[in-house]
Amino acid sequence: MEHIPVLLKESVDFLLAGRRVVGGEGVLVDATFGGGGHSRSLLERSSEGVSVVAIDRDPEATLRGESLTVEFASRFKLLAGNFADLTELLDDAGIDKIDGLLLDIGLSSFQLEEGDRGFSFQSPGPLDMRMDPATGEPASTIVNQADYKTLFKIFRNFGEEPYAAAIARKIVESRVQNPLLTTRSLAALIEDMVPVYKRSRRHPATLVFQALRIVVNDELNALEQVLNAGLERLERGARMVVISYHSLEDRRVKRIFRQATKGCVCPPRVPVCGCGQKPKVKILTGRGVRPQESEIALNPRSRSACLRAVECL
Ligand SMILES: C[S@@+](CC[C@H](N)C(=O)[O-])C[C@H]1O[C@@H](n2cnc3c(N)ncnc32)[C@H](O)[C@@H]1O
Repeated sequence: MEHIPVLLKESVDFLLAGRRVVGGEGVLVDATFGGGGHSRSLLERSSEGVSVVAIDRDPEATLRGESLTVEFASRFKLLAGNFADLTELLDDAGIDKIDGLLLDIGLSSFQLEEGDRGFSFQSPGPLDMRMDPATGEPASTIVNQADYKTLFKIFRNFGEEPYAAAIARKIVESRVQNPLLTTRSLAALIEDMVPVYKRSRRHPATLVFQALRIVVNDELNALEQVLNAGLERLERGARMVVISYHSLEDRRVKRIFRQATKGCVCPPRVPVCGCGQKPKVKILTGRGVRPQESEIALNPRSRSACLRAVECL
């Protein structure tokens, strides 16, 4: 099993062009270590004066980082934690300003392919989906205990699932006799419901699994928190690069980046600015960078990726 890093060259090129990093110094933060593909490339392609601090909330990911810790001892540190707590994690590590931040959000292939983690409708396993199995409730708790209205809202708001109402109703009916405790039992229930002629190339359970995963891991709040915290920590001339995989994430990235480009927010009739707000960043990527066809052919999981980057002013 391996994880092929997505938009590797593009993301690393952006980060290495940060002002201090070009000069051969600085601290780069890879807040989604995963299999370490991006961290490794950042270390290999930068000079001795540049260090990389990586973060992951999945204890299996932090174990995978041991080889980089040995290989790049003085230049690499791996922290266990949720990137939503970026400020505290950096404070505890004694780091003030940073010279680059990478977020390659979502799941690694390790998480998806390991049935025991419960992320995939294709791999049999318990309906869990926690990135950090020591924190929060597994997906099976929501599926078996939430009422109809809550399930409906989760599938509609976080999956944009067209059959949200019907699937929520069916879950509430079926679980009385047969609690839904495994990935396959939930996937089979959805497969039975969505008419074959309405199906796209996507598996009919894709959006429900996405929605549950977002809620179980509080993913969208964590994303907003790390984007805001990251903007506060970047040095002038430093870059933030975010790779997202679905529109709910990408919309948040776009909104927060756009807000950070704005200067004065006083109403137009106020003659002298009272807010004092200055633009924090400039956007480097316009409509976002997508993987080339050659990358998608090699790694179909990169298909939905969109990279956005900003530079701190
Ligand atoms: C797509 S993978 C990153 C892959 C990595 N860039 C590589 O090349 O191997 C995303 C990783 O981010 C981690 N992650 C997701 N949300 C997180 C959060 N809120 N805090 C910390 N880590 C998170 C996941 O556990 C997963 O390992």
